[in-house]
Amino acid sequence: MSGFSELRTLAADIATQAGRFAAEKRLAGVEAIGTKSSVVDVVTQVDKDAEVLIAEFLRSHRPDDGLLGEEGLSEQGSSGVTWVVDPIDGTVNFLYGIPHYAVSIAAVEGTPEPGQWRVVAGAIYHPGLDELFTASLGEGASLGKAPLRVADPVPLEQALWLTGFAYSTSHREVQADLVKHLLPKVRDIRRMGTASLDLAAIAAGRGNIYFERTLSPWDHAAGELLVTEAGGAVSGVAGRPAGREGLLAGHPEMVAKFLAEIEAFGGDGELYANS
Ligand code: IPD
Ligand code: CA
Ligand code: CA
Repeated sequence: MSGFSELRTLAADIATQAGRFAAEKRLAGVEAIGTKSSVVDVVTQVDKDAEVLIAEFLRSHRPDDGLLGEEGLSEQGSSGVTWVVDPIDGTVNFLYGIPHYAVSIAAVEGTPEPGQWRVVAGAIYHPGLDELFTASLGEGASLGKAPLRVADPVPLEQALWLTGFAYSTSHREVQADLVKHLLPKVRDIRRMGTASLDLAAIAAGRGNIYFERTLSPWDHAAGELLVTEAGGAVSGVAGRPAGREGLLAGHPEMVAKFLAEIEAFGGDGELYANS
């Protein structure tokens, strides 16, 4: 087993374990225990408990690695590998009992920041469908054992655009302007509520283009590797790293086409200029 496939197996094991843990807790009912960046950005006790479960597993298997997770996990390692963790991606769905949420785990080398990291392995587990997406650098992406391939390019009017919206009201206004402009030009949009699963869907050919802004590193670390290992491209906007200012994913031709549309509209202006 190469170094990366070992990391892929670990990511797959703990993503599955944590996803099943969350699904079981969901059966008993959950409630929001607080909010984060804004009043619409909720967190449940299960988000936090799942992150603890994942951290304990990774510490025991890979004691020298760093950890970075949405619910506060932040540990520097000495091995050069950092695990980037979203313990529940799609918390709003989780809260409402919509069975479309996931656990997303990636192993990255280098500084654990989009644009600086090298994602080497990842897993996204969807407990509602018992679907496990995994990838390792240079070794392909798969759903279970089936290899993944992005969809072939289509004309813009036949493109299914997967997207999502920010928790910040002012960012949503900017996003709404772009949707207003692009919605009449595409087949349709899907806002399914879980960025990692949107990226997994693109890798699996279940959509033509993904574009979203205001993502956090744990939303896209594993998913971006799935897409590139499935023959797709991942890009930022306005020459910035793919991440919080914007991330496009899809067949390379679709990414280029959609990026041109966004740029022509001016939908790539800096959102975080003053932060
Ligand atoms: C969110 C989901 C959503 C995306 C948001 C993310 P969370 O993650 O991935 O689809 O639109 O940008 O923050 O908060 O449920 O982990
Ligand atoms: Ca997330
Ligand atoms: Ca989350």
